[in-house]
Amino acid sequence: MKSDIEREEWKSSSGFILACIGSAVGIGNIWRFPYIVGENGGGAFLIPFLMVVVGLGISLMMLEFAVGKYFRSSIVKSLEKIKNNLKWSGVFIACVSLAVLSYYLVVIGWIGFFLSSFAAETFMEFEQMTDTYFSIVSFLVVALIVMAVIGKGVIGGIEKFNKISVLILISILIPFSAYAVTLPGAFDGISYFITPDFSSLYNPKIWATALGQAFFSLSLGSGALLTYGSYLGKRQFLLKPTITIISTNTAVSILAGFLIFSLVFSNNQSPSQGLPLVFNILPDIFASMEHGTVLGAVFFSLLFVAGLTSAVGLFQVPTASIQESLKTSRRKATLIVFGLVVAIGMPSALSYTPLEIQVNQIKFLDFMDDIFGTYGITLAELVFVVSVSWFMCKTRILENLNKNSRFNFPDWTIYVMKFVVPALIIFVIIFSAIFDNA
Ligand code: PFF
Repeated sequence: MKSDIEREEWKSSSGFILACIGSAVGIGNIWRFPYIVGENGGGAFLIPFLMVVVGLGISLMMLEFAVGKYFRSSIVKSLEKIKNNLKWSGVFIACVSLAVLSYYLVVIGWIGFFLSSFAAETFMEFEQMTDTYFSIVSFLVVALIVMAVIGKGVIGGIEKFNKISVLILISILIPFSAYAVTLPGAFDGISYFITPDFSSLYNPKIWATALGQAFFSLSLGSGALLTYGSYLGKRQFLLKPTITIISTNTAVSILAGFLIFSLVFSNNQSPSQGLPLVFNILPDIFASMEHGTVLGAVFFSLLFVAGLTSAVGLFQVPTASIQESLKTSRRKATLIVFGLVVAIGMPSALSYTPLEIQVNQIKFLDFMDDIFGTYGITLAELVFVVSVSWFMCKTRILENLNKNSRFNFPDWTIYVMKFVVPALIIFVIIFSAIFDNA
């Protein structure tokens, strides 16, 4: 019997790929990506975003998989096996994933609110929810659902759940986007979304935002991909799955862009309304549409499923780390993470209730997204790349990146990871901090 989650292995290669797609494709693609595109001038954002995804995303994702697969351990143990003190880098990364998870679950709870209100054929406004304590109830329910999936283990829980959910997600998204682009006025939205602006390449703020969004969207920097990689069999090759995951994730972002901007422009709304784009505007748009309750229910089911599969990936990072480092059972580790996440997430949930908990006059949840969603994840990726490229044996890294693959990463890849990638990330963190405070 497999009582130890670390010894489990994906049942199939497609199960592994779908789980990683489930982790990458999340509310970041459907809620965060369109609002960030809207805030950064539409098509102007696409070029730097795609360049970061292809230029850095492929090698960094492969590095996470390769390290996880080689050590067959959680983020904390993997880094500890490179060098004892590096376990603290692992602890830092696991803490970042816990912090992101804590407010990510609250947002999924809001989606659940709209989903149930549309399913009950009523139209509710965002404020109608924040005037109550609904945020707390939905947060706890969503946390329980995610805990239940994790509690069933890698094959019985994560792999099965993602296989079904990712298929549901794609089968809702494609026809729904196809419908949206036929709406009157949708063409303006599409051309706003895809018309590139090459002068944007000179704007450092756009590069900073593109890097942050690319890491968030590909689930880099949270240890989730390393953890999923640790359940791979020895013979699994990495390049093809990585390219499949990245292209599916990018395709979903692009489809979501078509969908959202078609809806926004066909209803004469502004695309640059920032964070509330999906929660404030779309319920109103659905309310004014024919068959709006059905369309609204379908759209929010899509978001809900996407959010849950990503939350499962995030939850698994601290769970696997605690289970392995404290040598405890999966059940106990899951309960500990549940307790931690509820404690850390409660102020975020409360910030969107009549209590309105704030830090520096911004809502606690917004504060968490700023600190951990943007800087935390980017910093965690920096810590990971530095820990691996500076302290792990160079030939071992290359051996694992290139195993079973016809394409071989050349030696200089390591120097790029050692110097160029950290320098780029540091540059971007500094720039985005300067521009955020400007
Ligand atoms: N990639 C997810 C999204 O785009 O919504 C967010 C995320 C999930 C980040 C899992 C990190 C992670 F480990």
